[in-house]
Amino acid sequence: MDEREIIKISEKIFIPTYSRYPIVLRKGRDVRVWDINGKEYLDFLGGIAVNVLGHCPRKVVMAVQKQVQRLIHVSNLYYTEPQLNLAKILIKNSFADRVFFCNSGTEANEGALKLARIYMKSKYGKERYEFISTYNSFHGRTFGSLSVTGQEKYHHGFEPLLDGVRFVPFNDADAIANAINEKTCAVILEPIQAEGGINVPDMDYLSKVREICDKEGILLILDEIQTGIGRTGKLFAYEHFGIEPDIMTLAKGLGGGIPIGAILTKEEIAKAFAPKTHASTFGGNPVACASAVATLETILEDGYLLNYCQRMSRYFMKKLNLIKEKYPEKIKEIRGLGLLIGVEFTFTATEIVNKCIEKGLLIGTAGDGSVVRFTPPLIIEKEDIDEAISIFDKVVKEVTD
Ligand SMILES: Cc1ncc(COP(=O)(O)O)c(C=O)c1O
Repeated sequence: MDEREIIKISEKIFIPTYSRYPIVLRKGRDVRVWDINGKEYLDFLGGIAVNVLGHCPRKVVMAVQKQVQRLIHVSNLYYTEPQLNLAKILIKNSFADRVFFCNSGTEANEGALKLARIYMKSKYGKERYEFISTYNSFHGRTFGSLSVTGQEKYHHGFEPLLDGVRFVPFNDADAIANAINEKTCAVILEPIQAEGGINVPDMDYLSKVREICDKEGILLILDEIQTGIGRTGKLFAYEHFGIEPDIMTLAKGLGGGIPIGAILTKEEIAKAFAPKTHASTFGGNPVACASAVATLETILEDGYLLNYCQRMSRYFMKKLNLIKEKYPEKIKEIRGLGLLIGVEFTFTATEIVNKCIEKGLLIGTAGDGSVVRFTPPLIIEKEDIDEAISIFDKVVKEVTD
């Protein structure tokens, strides 16, 4: 089948939840993918912040191949080695004492919300069930995660949502303090709001929130689904802010492209999830865990890639700022941390994204559509950045002239 036919049939037979770009991708390697006609693209969206090591990284491919031949699935009625290996790496390199594996970001957040509620219930009694979340946040599409997502456009048509969620502005610790009442269970935050527009808070925001949570005896859940796994130049974004969460959720980059999610927490909180209170058939699947182990081992090897990501971030930001200087009326702000970078335009950036894709650069939007989102693999080289910048610069000129 050719490209047109694949697209035409797909549009007929899939439940129409996506509006896709008209490209059929066939293979990938490092920072590049190729469509079925052989056209090459530089991938600066990285499967929406998933492909931290790029496409088909050798170590991950080999780990998956080896595991697939040995054992694909057995469920959580039994123990497996890849699951334990992955849990050990996560615990050794984070604040957490215990881990629960699932399959996606939204599933991790669902579990985190349940864990917070059952823990607070066991500690204080049944009335502490409310969550505080922030406007413009994004936590997923299932009912619990959707209910704490602070963007009405995603709620529309699915109401009623979970009861007892209060939204406050992001980067405003006082607003959180004021929203707390005797029913509050937990605050849920992304350290940097990603899908909501690459919104980076003040450096003291999270420590102020941590202080408030400690004072009021409520839990702090950090959703590091997009910011975790080296994306910001540290393994977890909370490390930039000098605090630790009570519960953290991961997905996206964790499996190096294979679906996996995780909930990480401290011993005392973990104990509230007794056997049969929470489960996931596929959670901690041996293939996904083997892939995640290979991914984390690569990222953590000598700490090289995390420092490298910060270096490439500085280089990329510098180049983007040069473009901004040329178009001060069109580009409002360049912001981000590590290789989670947003370029905010004074207009909706759909045409920018479409034209970049036409010219062979895959990028996406965030927020209200005026922010271009760059989440390339952490392994990008200066030459890749130069190439992406050259396309982006040309497109900005074309669209704004
Ligand atoms: C911060 C954050 N939380 C949760 C999710 C949901 O993850 P998933 O699509 O794997 O369910 C996303 C996805 O974009 C995200 O960015």
